[in-house]
Amino acid sequence: MQTVQDAAALRAAIRGWRSKGETVGFVPTMGNLHAGHHSLIKLARARTERVVASVFVNPTQFGPNEDFERYPRTLTQDQSGLAEHDCDLLFAPDVSTIYPFGAAGSVSLHVPQLTETLEGAHRPGHFDGVATVVCKLFNLVQPDIAVFGQKDFQQLKVIERMVRDMSLPVKIVGAATLRADDGLALSSRNQYLSVAERALAPQIYATLQQMRELVAKGHAWRVVEQAAAAKLARAGFEPDYAAIRRAEDLAEPADGEREGLVALIAARLGTTRLIDNLPFD
Ligand code: PAF
Repeated sequence: MQTVQDAAALRAAIRGWRSKGETVGFVPTMGNLHAGHHSLIKLARARTERVVASVFVNPTQFGPNEDFERYPRTLTQDQSGLAEHDCDLLFAPDVSTIYPFGAAGSVSLHVPQLTETLEGAHRPGHFDGVATVVCKLFNLVQPDIAVFGQKDFQQLKVIERMVRDMSLPVKIVGAATLRADDGLALSSRNQYLSVAERALAPQIYATLQQMRELVAKGHAWRVVEQAAAAKLARAGFEPDYAAIRRAEDLAEPADGEREGLVALIAARLGTTRLIDNLPFD
């Protein structure tokens, strides 16, 4: 596997493949790769002849009090994992390649509506950073498909909307969330958890499953949301939200609406913020 840092080397490699008529799949990441990321590479591998991954800890998607500085940077380990999973090329740019005018001087994309709720409401500016960096990466890699995990459900929706609105010629593929045996969704942030917190963390997925069951039994979604948040708080979490939304646009469901819903939770355990979701269908 080749690793490149600059845009010219990336473009030269991709031009070489394109000249042979090969298709390109892309998996953008912030590194510290685990089995969840590797499953995205596998999915891209099955659909395109060449696979590119990127590792870039994007400063514009972190708020001032978030974990940008302590976000784990493990490039050597990431390279080995990607090579083992048959990735063709790793793009690991520095900040000046992605933000030639500096992060603060960059063009910024804003996806309205979808970003005003849930994660967007709790992390102002986060999705502007995500939409901007993903658009820049797409312009550099120009892939046929790009694969994103469904664990970041709202992010996936924002990217789909951005791609459609900006007429970008890339197909977005959502990949199922990978979970530990006890149900905890795999995430780079799980390693921040203490042993006691790690033992509590699977309650997020258990709560999502309960939310689904209660809605299926006919309980009102607002009541289910309140009960879920209260249960998490009693267990020692600080929930930002436990929400039931329409999967398509993350709008609040109508009373009695049961089809096409998703439950989403964001909650803090100590200093670690965890998110997860469960589509009902
Ligand atoms: O999901 C992530 O790892 C990041 O938000 C992404 C999509 C790579 C953009 O920085």
